[in-house]
Amino acid sequence: MSISIKSQREIELMREAGKILATVHEELEKMIKPGISTYDIDKKGYELIKSFGCEPSFLDYEGYPASICVSVNDEVVHGIPSKNRILKDGDIVSLDAGVIYKGYQSDAARTWPVGEISEEAARLIQVTRESFFEGIKYAKEGCHLHEISAAIDEYCRSRGYGIVRDLVGHGIGKELHEDPQIPNFKQLRRGPKLMAGMTLAIEPMINQGTYKVNFLDDGWTVVTADGKLSAHYENTVLVTKGEPEILSLNK
Ligand code: MF3
Ligand code: CO
Repeated sequence: MSISIKSQREIELMREAGKILATVHEELEKMIKPGISTYDIDKKGYELIKSFGCEPSFLDYEGYPASICVSVNDEVVHGIPSKNRILKDGDIVSLDAGVIYKGYQSDAARTWPVGEISEEAARLIQVTRESFFEGIKYAKEGCHLHEISAAIDEYCRSRGYGIVRDLVGHGIGKELHEDPQIPNFKQLRRGPKLMAGMTLAIEPMINQGTYKVNFLDDGWTVVTADGKLSAHYENTVLVTKGEPEILSLNK
């Protein structure tokens, strides 16, 4: 395994990619309402990404047929947008998007409420987001990769949630998926030492019930095995000697 260290120039390009992606998510959030289809979200996402001079990295990635992964309720990740899938009051919806700017990638996901959602659903979204911030406390030079994993695991597990094991975070840069893999659950080994200039996509996928998931016949959609809700929160993060820099989140 070799984890690339980005140069100042590469970091600048990834900052730009991240800013654009953060803005794409902010714009998509505005359209989340009962009555819109997951296709509408994808279409808007494609247009936004193109309008910023970027390419949608997911489109045609290993044959994925859209620009945005739109995963509703018990769908964990990689939901395929469809004109027939209409968001309704009380749903939760996870949007995962990636952009390429001048050859450099950024990857980020958010889970949003649709209309009025239950307290339990809101709590799941909140804890998933918070677990990301617990994890990145260890995304700094001198820490070990699996300190991030353990922090996410402990935060979610102690609150009774299931941590998805079959999908993990990843290094990112010129490629969407680079070394290292970043599990969201505790590891036996402490993992590689982190160094300034590493760029990581950290992405807890957290279930209300069991951690177990199933893969649907469409070849993409991942769902919870028990049909309960799942939430996703992801950002592209730059490791530094001090505080990590969250590239795909606007201040
Ligand atoms: N965002 C996903 C990840 O973090 C990638 C989506 S794969 C795609 O790994 F095929 F849907 F694009
Ligand atoms: Co990712």
